[in-house]
Amino acid sequence: MTGRTGLERADSKSSPFESRRSFLAALLGVGSVFVGALLSVPLIRFALFPLIRRTTELKGSAVGALSDFASSTEPVMRTIQIEQVDGWRKAVSEKAVYVTKDSKGQLRVLTSICPHLGCTVPWNKEKNQFVCPCHGATFTADGTRVSGPSLRGMDMLETSIRDGHLQVRFQYFRQLVSDKEVIG
Ligand code: FES
Repeated sequence: MTGRTGLERADSKSSPFESRRSFLAALLGVGSVFVGALLSVPLIRFALFPLIRRTTELKGSAVGALSDFASSTEPVMRTIQIEQVDGWRKAVSEKAVYVTKDSKGQLRVLTSICPHLGCTVPWNKEKNQFVCPCHGATFTADGTRVSGPSLRGMDMLETSIRDGHLQVRFQYFRQLVSDKEVIG
């Protein structure tokens, strides 16, 4: 016998009540997935934030009032505070920079890090030059290379003026190369 009884046929068809219940369950499922996805976006952004932002960010630092440098005739050393943000970490360190003037008398700020191998370069008052103590590179007061193993002059930093005060954006540059190249 291959035919199905009338009772079996009636059982295989779902009632209108069951259909409505499955539709509501499906709707609830889709709604839950949608709301879950919506809520997870900020959480995912929060978790990935240290990975997707720039690895290291250096903020601007105060150097001093413009009036402090108006009458200077040679480079003036200043210690600046650098706020470094790396992912979730924030570190504050100090760096020495020189405020000097170019041939037109415009202020410029030089990093004290030697472009040869990274020693701190002091200003030599007697020689009227920057003289690196490590391998003897020399530079003029505005940072131009004079002699020695360095392939370029001292690195100039980006500056800005806010309310009569000089600000500088400290950066690190690649050593042992002739062109200035930012590395951080
Ligand atoms: S590190 Fe300055 S000359 Fe070598």
